[in-house]
Amino acid sequence: MKAFQALFVLLLTAAGADGQSFHLGKCPQPSVQEDFNITKYMGTWYEIEKLPAVFEKGKCNQATYSLLTDGTVGVRNAELLSNGKINSIEGVAKVKNSSQPAILGVSFFKGVPDAPYWVLSTDYQSYALVYSCSDYLSLFHFDFAWILARTRVLSEEVVSQLHDKLAAAGVNINRLTVSNQTGCDIMT
Ligand SMILES: *[C@@H]1O[C@H](CO)[C@@H](O)[C@H](O)[C@H]1NC(C)=O
Ligand SMILES: *[C@@H]1O[C@H](CO)[C@@H](O)[C@H](O)[C@H]1NC(C)=O
Ligand SMILES: *[C@@H]1O[C@H](CO)[C@@H](O)[C@H](O)[C@H]1NC(C)=O
Repeated sequence: MKAFQALFVLLLTAAGADGQSFHLGKCPQPSVQEDFNITKYMGTWYEIEKLPAVFEKGKCNQATYSLLTDGTVGVRNAELLSNGKINSIEGVAKVKNSSQPAILGVSFFKGVPDAPYWVLSTDYQSYALVYSCSDYLSLFHFDFAWILARTRVLSEEVVSQLHDKLAAAGVNINRLTVSNQTGCDIMT
């Protein structure tokens, strides 16, 4: 519990300093991808844009998902740091309620509550829009969002459609930042 509180204070401080991911009120409840097929979602996704995520400092950010035998999903997030080293972290994602397959929880640290991972929209082959929002005391919330693609570039047209979807969900798209996906040859 202490660790969780510390993390919470850290998030609050970071979000406060950033002034961007912290909002009053409860999380919005956007609609998610219909008939989500997790098998088709597996594999590598590259981060095209994100809502500021303070824990990501590098570039060439990517996530690789793999279906595990117990039905959960292995997650490996990797990024290239400015010193040329690859930083990676592994976690597990799972569908919490099989009647809502596009709503997952992701955990990178034992004992820390899952972070929500909602797949709002994907065609599996080119793009995905992911949203994560956590309520605290029903008074305020933090949110994160990621536009992901199967390649390190995504057409402006698709990005623009995903912006519209996020905006419709009540997310302030002015807060999105473009991820640097150039000079990533060292990443596999
Ligand atoms: C999900 O996708 C996999 C791989 O394409 C396919 O074999 C499976 O039938 C799909 N599941 C459903 C329920 O459509
Ligand atoms: C799973 O989702 C369905 C549909 O939204 C809901 O009726 C049901 O109560 C949920 N089950 C659990 C265990 O939360
Ligand atoms: C992205 O990274 C490349 C290679 O490290 C660098 O040259 C470029 O300036 C960066 N682009 C931005 C927008 O930061």
